[in-house]
Amino acid sequence: MNKSLTDMQTLESTKNIKLGGSADNDSPNLPDFTTDAYKDAYSRINAIVIEGEQEAYDNYISIATLLPNDSEELTKLAKMELQHKRGFTACGKNLGVKADMPFAKEFFSKLHGNFQVALKDGNLTTCLLIQAILIEAFAISAYHVYIRVADPFAKKITQGVVNDEYLHLNYGEKWLKENLHTCKDELIAANKVNLPLIKKMLDQVAEDAATLSMDKEELMEEFMIAYQDALLEMGLDNREIARMAMAAIV
Ligand SMILES: [Fe+2]
Ligand SMILES: [Fe+2]
Repeated sequence: MNKSLTDMQTLESTKNIKLGGSADNDSPNLPDFTTDAYKDAYSRINAIVIEGEQEAYDNYISIATLLPNDSEELTKLAKMELQHKRGFTACGKNLGVKADMPFAKEFFSKLHGNFQVALKDGNLTTCLLIQAILIEAFAISAYHVYIRVADPFAKKITQGVVNDEYLHLNYGEKWLKENLHTCKDELIAANKVNLPLIKKMLDQVAEDAATLSMDKEELMEEFMIAYQDALLEMGLDNREIARMAMAAIV
């Protein structure tokens, strides 16, 4: 009973966030978007988001080469990512901030490298885990938290984006679910290598995120919700999900 009540509350709060419930429009806790400290932190966070959307575009186009039958759908998902990139570029311009792209490239470099190796070796499961599960869950968590404290222009853009990211996560979930009997071992091994990177990326971004009023604990919670929901949706049991999630604790 309690569990389902909690689930319902979680669902309800997620729904409100996704729809951008009007209640938080007049939140008294919004940061001052005009300070140098805010803009300095935003130059890195905005760059990470822009680079993340570009990486996502590239990754879906690459995944399409391994899944030619899904090429049309994957190209559609990829194009959404470019739209997102444009939206977030506009958010930076709107605040008069220049995105620190070299910082963002470095931020993604390890995950980028692992994806490239998996792609070269034709390890589709690893590619899908990195992009369609880990990066999408990371984006969903960050965007949910950001929507609560964003400037009005960015808030509107981010609300549109986060709904698209669920479509991408669902794509990965669906493929991995259908192929779980053959891909589970690779999925677990790839998770063990790449989930700790996501945790490190969250740690690395925590200070700048805090300047934007984004709480680290909240980011981690939102990530774990999206990530564990995805694993559950794929058909993994509670013990397997707990084991996989433990890889974040290193
Ligand atoms: Fe995106
Ligand atoms: Fe996405």
